[in-house]
Amino acid sequence: MDTLASYDELPYDSLPLPETQPDVLAALAKLHGFDAPDPCRARILELGCAQGGNLIPLAWRWPESDCVGVELSRVQAQAGADFVQRLGLANVRILHADLAALPADLGTFDYILAHGVFSWVPPAVQGALLDVCRRHLSPKGLAYVSFNVAAGWRGLQPLRAALVERTAAELPAPERYRQALAVLDDLQAEWRDPLLLKEIAYLKTAAPSYLFHEYLADTHTPLSFAEFAAALDAHGLRYVGEAGPRRARVALEDAWGLIPESMSGRWQDAEIALDDAFATRFRRAMIARDDAPCAQPPRPDVMSGLAFHADLACHEEIDLDDGVEQHFVSPAGNHFPVVSPALKAALMLLSMRYPAALDYARLVDATRALLAEHGPADFDPARFDEPAFREALFDLTMLHGVIPTVWPGRFADEPGELPRAHDLARAQARAAGWIVSGARHVAVDLDFAGRLLLGALDGSRDLDELAAWMRAQLAENGLALPLEQIAELTRQQLWLYARQGLLV
Ligand SMILES: C[S@@+](CC[C@H](N)C(=O)[O-])C[C@H]1O[C@@H](n2cnc3c(N)ncnc32)[C@H](O)[C@@H]1O
Repeated sequence: MDTLASYDELPYDSLPLPETQPDVLAALAKLHGFDAPDPCRARILELGCAQGGNLIPLAWRWPESDCVGVELSRVQAQAGADFVQRLGLANVRILHADLAALPADLGTFDYILAHGVFSWVPPAVQGALLDVCRRHLSPKGLAYVSFNVAAGWRGLQPLRAALVERTAAELPAPERYRQALAVLDDLQAEWRDPLLLKEIAYLKTAAPSYLFHEYLADTHTPLSFAEFAAALDAHGLRYVGEAGPRRARVALEDAWGLIPESMSGRWQDAEIALDDAFATRFRRAMIARDDAPCAQPPRPDVMSGLAFHADLACHEEIDLDDGVEQHFVSPAGNHFPVVSPALKAALMLLSMRYPAALDYARLVDATRALLAEHGPADFDPARFDEPAFREALFDLTMLHGVIPTVWPGRFADEPGELPRAHDLARAQARAAGWIVSGARHVAVDLDFAGRLLLGALDGSRDLDELAAWMRAQLAENGLALPLEQIAELTRQQLWLYARQGLLV
């Protein structure tokens, strides 16, 4: 009950979570030799969905899907249900319910998502969550369950212990959060451990709900991969693979004719070793029923059946000659060093087309053509080393520099004469407490003016009219700027919306 009250008092920021997208899960599962159902027509269940910031954009994206969200906090469930009603979406329901006592007639689902729930609920609810997966997954369905990993949390436990000890559990959540911030200041002065100091610095800028629910929640049980795999086993489930970025490959030989079933034990040993080596803190596990076909470690030869998208920038002129390492940077600031000219060319092409995805064959053709025009002088398109390209693209895909998908998507790539945002984006922009979600399920960070403009894009005004309207609106809010400056900012903002796939 305390946990529930805290979620009512300090709701979790309900964001789109890119790794939970069923099209991405289906693509990653395919790399593991596991064929999951078509996400566009899938039944999707989200457990602990907060107000639906992750689920509702998926339902809106795929009108032929059928989505159900389950949330124990009445405040959050009601906010989600109200928003769905406002959008007039018929294919999504947010239920105020306990995942441990679901209505019996929910049926089966092709995708079951539970992000940020498993490690933060008591053991009985953890068991119930896995029971729901076993009972409600369709025969080839995929579940996504994220959890905190003991290998990486071991070093952070003193911080959690100090925050729990030095704050008053009986305070309302927002007040206890303020108390925790003061404790962080004290700990910063007292402690010397670089890992803990880095975490303290991060927590001081993180969302209040993150600090509260990660460090002050009553229940927080990081698990080893072995414990998690044993829990899956006990509930008739099996690990398929990781939905989050991977820093190393698990490569097991299969040349000896080993069937995947007999691999699974050794594969799990490899996962445990990776967690220890990298001090893994968080896993996003893809899971299937134990009577579904067994998955195997991911393999590059499946890449040809997938499409890819990437949103990367290189802050220098891209050099397509051999041997020059250059960094490609994601909007979140992650750096991906790339040497291969073919991979650099592919990243240029994908980032130009973002948020659209290119299928593998078209990506290879376009990469070859770009290298023929701008690559090394001795480049011979007839001798393009496709296997080496595939391996390099595979490695970057495992790191999530490039995202694999089974849903190419179609998006307006420019604002047009009379810019119009799609209904979901306009509704999100206008509603306090809702985050605007980009076409690839990323949170689009917009300030007051950005939300105002997006919410007003109904296709009735051209750029000049929009600039004049924005000028009047901003002046009303005490911000007076010259019309030319507003027109330029409006133009830039419209292109940003187009890049995020928010326009029609
Ligand atoms: C840390 S939040 C994560 C929210 C969201 N999935 C995300 O990642 O942004 C955990 C959510 O699970 C919900 N929850 C906890 N126990 C639950 C239960 N037994 N049944 C349904 N929801 C539950 C909480 O109310 C809270 O909204």
